Amino acid sequence: MKTGKTLFDLTGKVCLVTGANRGLGRAIAIGLAEAGGDVVVACRDPVGGAAVAREIEARGRRALAVPCDIGRWPDIDALVSTIYEHFGRCDVLVNNAGIAHDLLPIANVDEAMFDRFFQVNTKGPMHLASLVAQRMAQGGGGSIVNIVTFGAVKAGGFLSMYCASKAAMRSLSRVMAEEWAPQGIRVNAIAPGPFRTDMLEGLAEGTDGFMEYTIQTTVLKRIAEPEEIVGPVVFLASEASSFVTGQTLAVCGGGLSL
Ligand SMILES: NC(=O)c1ccc[n+]([C@@H]2O[C@H](COP(=O)([O-])OP(=O)(O)OC[C@H]3O[C@@H](n4cnc5c(N)ncnc54)[C@H](OP(=O)(O)O)[C@@H]3O)[C@@H](O)[C@H]2O)c1
Repeated sequence: MKTGKTLFDLTGKVCLVTGANRGLGRAIAIGLAEAGGDVVVACRDPVGGAAVAREIEARGRRALAVPCDIGRWPDIDALVSTIYEHFGRCDVLVNNAGIAHDLLPIANVDEAMFDRFFQVNTKGPMHLASLVAQRMAQGGGGSIVNIVTFGAVKAGGFLSMYCASKAAMRSLSRVMAEEWAPQGIRVNAIAPGPFRTDMLEGLAEGTDGFMEYTIQTTVLKRIAEPEEIVGPVVFLASEASSFVTGQTLAVCGGGLSL
């Protein structure tokens, strides 16, 4: 059992992060590397993915950029095969890739939009977690962290597909935790509040007053910087959280207590 500073040490661990080319995913990938992990940068953007892989290698860790559209199961199958061919193991999965939409009434949601949100925010991450968990089980266990949203816990008006698809993923996280505990796999969700990324800027561009509104949903009265997600992810990825599973950690500036 590790103690003290080594509790958060990920040396020798192989960590897979989806959507790691930008935003929270990039911060998480670099943060896991700084905690000692080798990192698989899974993303659709080969240029951005290669750049993040270079940033990780510059920190003395191994990195591998692998193309993957999380909405396509064949891509996910290929991603997992590539990781095991290259590293022979995967100890940490961070299901980070996700999509949001501008505020819109439920009446404007069509079937294609419904399917797209569940495909990217729920089905793909579930399939990836399932494939990785089967391999983790053979290797003695691991940790899975699913990035959902504050809105998965406290759904907000006009974000129906985003909140519902992420709430489903939060629910699946709880089920996964129970199913896979006997194999030594812990599964937790993180529910971020507002973080300064392209996603939040996009929502703000589409809606007057959105940034001020979202700041007011927090107790700390500010937007977080992407690097502020790293501590909670490293905690859940590492032995520091060895007795934590099936939980949703709200990283939202106190928003849920409002
Ligand atoms: N920022 C916030 O305030 C906030 C709050 C709550 C939850 N979150 C969650 O945090 C996660 C990261 O969000 P972010 O703020 O960093 O958003 P972002 O800046 O928009 O980045 C989203 C990431 O997901 C990737 N992605 C989207 N669709 C994909 C697909 N089909 N296949 C593979 N990758 C895909 C994007 O890749 P491309 O570059 O190829 O598009 C990008 O890397 C998301 O799950 C989001 O829902 C964010």
